Amino acid sequence: MHVKKAIFPVGGLGTRFLPATKSMPKEMLPIVDKPLIQYAVEEAANAGIEQFIFVTSRGKSAIENHFDHSFELENNLLAKGKRTTLASAQEMLKIPGSYAYVRQQEPAGLGHAIWCARHLIQNEPFAVILADDLIFGQSTIKKMIKNYTSGNMVAIMEVDKEKVSSYGIVKVDNSDKDLMQINQMVEKPSIENAPSNLAIVGRYILDDKIFDVLEKQERGASHEIQLTDAISSQIGKKPCFGYKIQDERFDCGSKLGFLQANVSYALSRNDLNSDLTDWLKKII
Ligand code: G1P
Repeated sequence: MHVKKAIFPVGGLGTRFLPATKSMPKEMLPIVDKPLIQYAVEEAANAGIEQFIFVTSRGKSAIENHFDHSFELENNLLAKGKRTTLASAQEMLKIPGSYAYVRQQEPAGLGHAIWCARHLIQNEPFAVILADDLIFGQSTIKKMIKNYTSGNMVAIMEVDKEKVSSYGIVKVDNSDKDLMQINQMVEKPSIENAPSNLAIVGRYILDDKIFDVLEKQERGASHEIQLTDAISSQIGKKPCFGYKIQDERFDCGSKLGFLQANVSYALSRNDLNSDLTDWLKKII
């Protein structure tokens, strides 16, 4: 199945990273030398996505600028003959019309953010990528699209039982497989009410019928319009699959996850690995 469009909800306030995110979008926080949102867009492009839809909010213009020309910078680098650096400043430019932006006027939840992009999706399945959830290898959405036939699909991973209340949690048939049929889904349950410890990670492929459900604007956990609730209401009507991620995932919405991602990504780079390893050995 060819999935052409991806939605990137980037309207969140980023309160867990204050004061860093007071005037800068949290999606622009760098992992080594690239902002989180660029990893997300690269993962989508790597999966054959052609249209990149950002659901933004006030104060997020740095994201739009990141995916556009910066003439002063580019001219300066060109004049100095710094071609490699110039290429890194231009690598996210795509053919005109590839990027689209819609505003979410109020922080009313992930389901609400997706609903804000409804006019840009036409009778087609689409991907959703949460940039906070950084997954090593930038290939998870590609693998999901490869396995996708119809209905809704979410990426899932096991989490510690104590952490279930931070996630959407699913109940599946045959949990030993990579692709599982989901028969129950609940957003941020208490430990006692969680149907399992299999959590939704920020990668989705959704049937556009989801907009009919989101249209109702029903509030769920945290009094927000939850994407999990909308997908859950379609179980039994549409196939619903969980794809177990195979690579390490970093919760870059948390300080610890963000630091772990920076160290892991730096260690995976030839230009940083050896010096960083020496320094880490020294300080530990
Ligand atoms: C969102 C989703 C949740 C999912 C999580 C993954 O929650 O609502 O179902 O498990 O992303 O990161 P948030 O982290 O925005 O509270």
